[in-house]
Amino acid sequence: MKKIIAASILMSVLIACKSEKKEKEEIVIGTKEVKQDPVALGKKLFNGKGKCIACHQVNKKTVGPSVKEIVAVYKEKKGDLLGFLKEEQPPIVAPESFAVMKTNYAILKTFKDKELEALIAYMKKIGQE
Ligand code: HEC
Repeated sequence: MKKIIAASILMSVLIACKSEKKEKEEIVIGTKEVKQDPVALGKKLFNGKGKCIACHQVNKKTVGPSVKEIVAVYKEKKGDLLGFLKEEQPPIVAPESFAVMKTNYAILKTFKDKELEALIAYMKKIGQE
């Protein structure tokens, strides 16, 4: 009888440990999601891999229109930024100099949807400040 009691206590301790471990795993997954902040990822891509910063400043027009202008025009005209970045929608900000922007589709085509959405999140963030 004692053995059975001891065994069942041991079992319940084991089960308790197991469920505690599961909880911890869920917490870790939770923080991973927080780390993938789209604005932070967008900033990295805008200044790094995408080299968008070479032609787009936040407030002033350089080779390309400022991010502020792009965001304002897309907001006003209810444009589809994701569609533009995927080469599915025509330019609406400065179509006359689209030839220059068009060269960027080579790099933009290598971006996943999630990365394009991150770029947009970042542009909206800095363009509205
Ligand atoms: C070599 C210079 C250059 C680089 C690099 C560049 N752009 Fe542009 N971009 C332009 C020019 C010029 C325009 C204006 C033409 C136009 O509106 O399409 C433009 C326009 C745009 C527009 C407005 C499009 C519209 O509707 O008219 C968006 C959005 C944009 N760029 C995003 C980006 C992003 C994101 C990157 C980085 C992946 C990038 N650009 C890199 C030159 C550049």
